[in-house]
Amino acid sequence: MKKISLTGIKSTGSLHIGNYFGAIKPALELSAEYDARYFIADYHALNTEKNPAELESSIREVAAGWLAAGLDPEKVIFYRQSSIPEVFELTTMIMAFTAKGLMNRAHAYKAAVQENQERGEDPDAGINMGLFTYPVLMAADIIIFDSDVVPVGKDQVQHIEMAQDIAQSVNANYKKEILKVPRAAITESVAVVPGLDGRKMSKSYNNAIPLFGPENQLQKLIMRMVTNSQAVEEPKDPDTSQIFLLYKLFASGEEQEALAARYRAGGMGWGEAKEELFRVVNRQLTPMRERFNTIIADREGLDRILAAGAEKARPIAAATVKRFRKAAGID
Ligand code: TRP
Repeated sequence: MKKISLTGIKSTGSLHIGNYFGAIKPALELSAEYDARYFIADYHALNTEKNPAELESSIREVAAGWLAAGLDPEKVIFYRQSSIPEVFELTTMIMAFTAKGLMNRAHAYKAAVQENQERGEDPDAGINMGLFTYPVLMAADIIIFDSDVVPVGKDQVQHIEMAQDIAQSVNANYKKEILKVPRAAITESVAVVPGLDGRKMSKSYNNAIPLFGPENQLQKLIMRMVTNSQAVEEPKDPDTSQIFLLYKLFASGEEQEALAARYRAGGMGWGEAKEELFRVVNRQLTPMRERFNTIIADREGLDRILAAGAEKARPIAAATVKRFRKAAGID
């Protein structure tokens, strides 16, 4: 039997190119080797997104984005967290095995407290229980599907360690393997995707290129990328150019070599380098964008896909909860 991998995707905002290379693409590649499960963590998103229209459109955009990027709902299980009530039942159950002190040590919570303190505010200002217990819900997400591995970036490793801790406490108490103890598969970020200003592409830096924006927006953003002031005739170093780094993600090996030679020879200005970049980015994104637009326009079709995923997921989740309830004496 194949091992199980599980990836959670928080639905906040829209997807950008950094999400694609840093998270979506490597996670989709796992489906060859693993029995893969992907879900939209919409209740996690609720902690920070209180505007219903924003949350709803983000859920749909993120779901459509994964499908457009190649997720095959026939081959994997793809669902919304909020469609699996068993996850919340398990969350309550594992709360009884989660030390409050463990939550006090969570990086995201600690950072929020520290920010408040630095601003001279009450340490708990703006922190809701959803944020405080975020790692418990995440542990339930993982444990409920008997996940073997959870591919995550370094920022999420602590959360996986907490899930291990919680599952082990349950197993130790009942002296039996009731819950599978998951393992983190750290995705050494395949490539740091440079953003428009040269820093790492990130929503919070406001330097991101949307993955499914219209073609003219894509072109405008690329043409506006920050460069140094080297003149057209000057030779340029491709290895230190953000434009070239981005180009490498989209171009073939031959194209990369050819363009690197033009950089080094001089005579090519930044405008032209950006046009070359736009050409290869648009070449790859156009079919994805078209798929995305088709999927997002078909509301019912998308709902059907997610509902079918939930139907596959629920019996697995129910079995875990049942096993646990039985062991706990709540049958
Ligand atoms: N915390 C993850 C993030 O912000 C999202 C997430 C929620 C998740 N539940 C998960 C990831 C379970 C992996 C497994 O990216």
